[in-house]
Amino acid sequence: MVIGSHGQGNDSQPTGSSVNRPSPRSYPPIPKMGLNRDNAMMIKDEASGSPECLPDEAVPHPVCQVVLGVTGGIAVYKAAEVVRRLRQQELAVQVVMTEAARSFVHPLTFQALSGRAVRYALLDESAEAGMGHIELARWAQQVLVAPASADFMARLAGGHADDLLTTLCLATEAPVVLCPAMNRVMWRHEATQANRRILQARGVRLIGPDSGAQACGEMGEGRMVSTEEIVHAATAHYHGALAGCTVLLTAGPTREAIDPVRYITNRSSGKMGYAMARAALEAGAEVILISGPSLLEPPWGVQQVAVESAAEMCEAVMDHVKRCQIFIGAAAVADYTPVQAAIHKLKKASQEWQLSLQRTADIIGALGSQRAAGAPGPFLVGFAAETQYLETHARDKLQRKHLDLLIANPVNQRGLGFDSNDNEARCFWPGGECAFPRQGKQQLARRLIVLVAQLYHKAHQLQSAARPSVS
Ligand SMILES: Cc1cc2nc3c(=O)[nH]c(=O)nc-3n(C[C@H](O)[C@H](O)[C@H](O)COP(=O)(O)O)c2cc1C
Repeated sequence: MVIGSHGQGNDSQPTGSSVNRPSPRSYPPIPKMGLNRDNAMMIKDEASGSPECLPDEAVPHPVCQVVLGVTGGIAVYKAAEVVRRLRQQELAVQVVMTEAARSFVHPLTFQALSGRAVRYALLDESAEAGMGHIELARWAQQVLVAPASADFMARLAGGHADDLLTTLCLATEAPVVLCPAMNRVMWRHEATQANRRILQARGVRLIGPDSGAQACGEMGEGRMVSTEEIVHAATAHYHGALAGCTVLLTAGPTREAIDPVRYITNRSSGKMGYAMARAALEAGAEVILISGPSLLEPPWGVQQVAVESAAEMCEAVMDHVKRCQIFIGAAAVADYTPVQAAIHKLKKASQEWQLSLQRTADIIGALGSQRAAGAPGPFLVGFAAETQYLETHARDKLQRKHLDLLIANPVNQRGLGFDSNDNEARCFWPGGECAFPRQGKQQLARRLIVLVAQLYHKAHQLQSAARPSVS
């Protein structure tokens, strides 16, 4: 527990609800890809007792490695922002530029943003000895081409392999996504439209183009879609895993007022909860994020409800819980709150000061008890931050609070857990467990959401099977 005061540390957010939602666009599913063995999660089946890797088909693996193809067009400058945003989401990005693209923007820009030397030469002896075009094609979990020029589309439709980008598009088994960008007349041209049809018939996904003002001064269809949509497309391969679900999520710390200037709080930054919200959104869920005070920007597209105290968080959860199918309690809710908050600032008086505290409401415990008593309720996912006896405490919490999944994080190691960018997790559910090694919080969140989706759908199937059928 940390005692803070207003004016220090985190600024509180205004309370209330706000929606930050992208315009709806439906994304066709991307074919499933293989599991990256380096990041495979270990799973233990209680029946056999032995840890093992989940088979590939059991876990749709989040995209972590993207080849970003950049072709020659005015929209090339926007691709730099795409790289920055993908890197923010902790994806590894390898930029491959065409010769024309290099006339628009120097590769150094992309190298600096991606942290990797840009690749462009097909017949490059040094690269062929290292990550050659086939190795690059295998490395990619997604090939995203933004902007995709009319000429590139024509070459790809024609099956050409005359530069590195077209060659790796032919050689890869990863999904290929194009974001076309060109003058409206070029886009409407029958040749371009025929190429589009050929590519789509082969399973290439096209995002856009959008309509609007063009760089050439004309108005019409041909603009590259927004950075947000491109980033969404790159990360939404598991889009649909939670489609149709509403996920209610709590995140961040709470603040328990002692007096108008002092409060009790904890070290939570909200990073893990916000990462979970973003991952749930990418998986196609409607997300309601009830957040304690945090400096973080809410992910684009979530409905945010800002609260301050544990009592406010509890009230907000109870207000929204009926709408949700999955509840994820990632907030570090204060366990105790002052019995009474003073109306005026408490003055220094004696050497010692005794503060009377009382228990706050146990939000997830209450939801678990309601469900255990037979009331309908959401699939319950809890988090536990532990400094010792992680497994014992986690299993106890899972059982005592009637949870469907408990995600336990060790918070006694440097650079892990509270207010850091990395985390590791051990997950426990009735009948199973798994572990995720240390990694970035966003990447971990995507993997956790995949697990949540799997367990949720399994529980749902069991429930439906148990229900008597109506004839
Ligand atoms: C200033 C300028 C802007 C261009 N903008 C576009 C564009 O937005 N879209 C497009 O398809 N082609 C555009 N072109 C034409 C392409 O650069 C040209 O077709 C090139 O061969 C594409 O090569 P690549 O597909 O290998 O990158 C532009 C050309 C110039 C000179």
